[in-house]
Amino acid sequence: MEIKTCAVIGAGTMGSGIVQVAASTACLDVIMNDIADEFVDKGFNAIVKNLDRLASRGKLTVAQKDEILGRIKKSTNIEDIKDADFVVEAATEKLDFKLNIFKDLDKTCKTGVILATNTSSLPITKIAAATERPELVIGMHFFNPVPVMKLVEVINGMATSKETFETTCKLAEQFGKTPVEANDSPGFISNRILMPMINEAIYALYEGVGTEEAIDNVMKLGTNHPMGPLELADLIGLDVCLNIMEVLYSSFNDSKYRPCPLLKKYVDAGYLGRKTGKGFFNYRRK
Ligand code: CAA
Repeated sequence: MEIKTCAVIGAGTMGSGIVQVAASTACLDVIMNDIADEFVDKGFNAIVKNLDRLASRGKLTVAQKDEILGRIKKSTNIEDIKDADFVVEAATEKLDFKLNIFKDLDKTCKTGVILATNTSSLPITKIAAATERPELVIGMHFFNPVPVMKLVEVINGMATSKETFETTCKLAEQFGKTPVEANDSPGFISNRILMPMINEAIYALYEGVGTEEAIDNVMKLGTNHPMGPLELADLIGLDVCLNIMEVLYSSFNDSKYRPCPLLKKYVDAGYLGRKTGKGFFNYRRK
């Protein structure tokens, strides 16, 4: 099936980034769906801001910007995606929530349409089993900020077909990304490695091994990371980091994945990182 229209479910940071690359790099028509106008508008405005920045740097003409935005259709009704040729779900990282979404997508979408999930750690096999088309369900894990990061981790569930995998990899390339295959194991490859590193950095802070600045500077200057682990945790969202650590901890039943109590404390306090203006660093304007 030729993919002309892609639907993206969830217009948050990841969803809006995926919509942007689908409409700009891949030149697809995109349906941007979320449960309320305010979420869709917020995601759409983030894309406008990104394209404005590119236009102001001469990387995009105003006509090209308008063309890209013209390919995006805002939606709050799941029925709007019934003619989509490919779906990427990027909604809240809660398993029950995702299972319900996939049941709805399965009922609404045309036969043969691939349903991909941008989950960062939840089991693809379980999400697929909520549908009548498990061979067409796959993990398509993007990285934040989506327009910049080159990777898409592609995760096969137990029933995912070879054709679904190949079509998804091809689409990831159309999005300007490099697909890398991972198996359906908690955290896949990326978060199996990244999150324990971030969690360990938080333990180092908790135990007074170094200050926030010292921990991040060591990793930036000593190991060439573009961002230190604490700044990166703030970018990802501390609630998201905690959620992924809890998935690793409960899935492997191994104490090496226990989330740091300081991470839990920050989440309890509502210090979730950049999105709330405060995490390990302060982002509030003075
Ligand atoms: N949206 C779009 N473009 C953005 C952007 C955003 N949010 N943030 C930065 N950019 C663009 C800038 O416009 C700039 O573009 P040009 O080169 O064309 O001018 C480019 O990225 C570089 O930006 P800056 O010069 O402002 O800043 P920088 O060089 O410090 O790079 C960064 C910023 C790309 C975010 C870099 O610090 C970085 O790579 N950090 C690590 C990010 C990372 O590891 N992400 C993965 C997180 S894990 C995840 O997402 C998955 C999960 O499951 C948790």
